Amino acid sequence: MYFAELVVFLSTYYIRARGFSLFGHGDGLNFLFKEINETAALFDSSEVQTKWMRQPLDNFDKSETRTWKMRYFQRLDMWKPKGPIYLFMNGEGRAGKGFLQTGMMYELAKETKGAMFLSEHRYYGDSKPFDNYTTENLKFLSSSQALADNARLIKRIKLSPLFYSSKVVVVGGSYAGNLAAWMKLLYPDLVDVAIASSGPVLAKADFFEYLETVSDDFEQYGTPGCFDKISKIFKRYEDMFKTDDGIKLLKEEEQICDETDMNKLQNQQLFFLYKASEFMGVAQYGDLNSIKMHCEEINNNSQVLSSKDDETNMWNERRQCFDYDFDSMIESIKSIDWYISWIYQTCTEFGYYQTSNSNNRLFTDNIPVELFYNMCTDTFGPEFDKKRIDEGVLKSNEMYGGLNPNVTKVVFVNGELDPWHRLSILEDVSYDAPAKTIPFSSHCRDLFSDRSGDPEELKEARRYIKYLVKKWIGAGEYNM
Ligand SMILES: *[C@@H]1O[C@H](CO)[C@@H](O)[C@H](O)[C@H]1NC(C)=O
Ligand SMILES: *[C@@H]1O[C@H](CO)[C@@H](O)[C@H](O)[C@H]1NC(C)=O
Ligand SMILES: *[C@@H]1O[C@H](CO)[C@@H](O)[C@H](O)[C@H]1NC(C)=O
Repeated sequence: MYFAELVVFLSTYYIRARGFSLFGHGDGLNFLFKEINETAALFDSSEVQTKWMRQPLDNFDKSETRTWKMRYFQRLDMWKPKGPIYLFMNGEGRAGKGFLQTGMMYELAKETKGAMFLSEHRYYGDSKPFDNYTTENLKFLSSSQALADNARLIKRIKLSPLFYSSKVVVVGGSYAGNLAAWMKLLYPDLVDVAIASSGPVLAKADFFEYLETVSDDFEQYGTPGCFDKISKIFKRYEDMFKTDDGIKLLKEEEQICDETDMNKLQNQQLFFLYKASEFMGVAQYGDLNSIKMHCEEINNNSQVLSSKDDETNMWNERRQCFDYDFDSMIESIKSIDWYISWIYQTCTEFGYYQTSNSNNRLFTDNIPVELFYNMCTDTFGPEFDKKRIDEGVLKSNEMYGGLNPNVTKVVFVNGELDPWHRLSILEDVSYDAPAKTIPFSSHCRDLFSDRSGDPEELKEARRYIKYLVKKWIGAGEYNM
């Protein structure tokens, strides 16, 4: 769930993830779509139609009369009468057509003769209620508004006599994995089944477990000496910040801009977060092989190489140096629609801040939760303070039930390597709401189709999930 500039070497399945954006944002979907669309480009997309639906700006206040247009895609060529409806819910990013052309939901639709839809989340991609995302304009952005938008979409689809009696299966990954589960929770009359893939359903401000899992992944699956090497590099960074000479040397070694004040605590914290993000992506999107490859690279270097292409422009192209300046970074965030939208959701609903407050401190302890609270305040205004963020987190967990949602016919799927699994459901909620944790797998991998490099455990999990869905919708034959 965060922005990643990725080079995907399909031949070796080595995913090298660099330069994530920071700040607890997920953006798994941006990543997923990038990959799935690259794969899907191999297939014909002429069957996928783009549609628009007018939605109220505020689903819960009838006195607000403004509206906006939500984008969605549909694909009906495999549908046969009485076939189910599949709705792929997009999350925090631009929607693409890829998951209507390949992936697990596509296979399910094919095997059960289903109709497929894919909806774009309000405030992301082309589904924009406003041109200008000021704090005032962002107040209609929330998971509950998005769920209500999707409920209206399903109702509209089911108005058609074709789909009147069709079962409805919703699918989502990452933040949208939460949304899929919560659709079933809040709209059980409209939704029959949900696949919640890698959904961090528990909101939490200080999400220290994230870096703890990254650390565990490298300790457990890294090459010999890798963990110690990483630890040494980060301790050295920490020591360098203690003296003026150290900072001077660090600025040279790390190509940091002369003007960037690295005595400023927030800039130092940003530096540590940026360096840690080079490992976060490998744990979140990689596999055992990519962890080993990353270790090899680390063993060859005495520093952690920083990405020169992330959306926050930490690398200043004009000046050819890294500018770890907190204030300029906030300005960059404000200029990117999906980024400011997602950060708004973390500041108002979920937190998810990847801090270093763990006992297992591979990356030292220089990324406090205050960094993120400051980000909220500096981006949206003084009222977006710790108190408000903590209240938002509490409210989300009360509304959706945290790790114990009152749902049936929802499957919660997670990858063992993926740090997000720590906020998700790993044990069956009930017989009808099972959990599936996949060894050696990462974020949302189950939503893809089988590839030859996939571990057997992952392929088996996909078969199991498809079996559950078919069983729950009562599809003719549902052998595993
Ligand atoms: C967006 O709104 C802000 C505050 O009202 C204003 O300063 C800014 O110029 C606007 N930007 C655009 C692109 O309209
Ligand atoms: C690390 O160095 C070795 C020996 O010089 C080289 O063979 C290998 O390709 C390097 N690995 C990476 C990932 O740079
Ligand atoms: C769970 O949901 C069911 C029906 O959807 C409802 O009857 C029951 O009261 C709910 N349980 C709790 C603890 O909210």
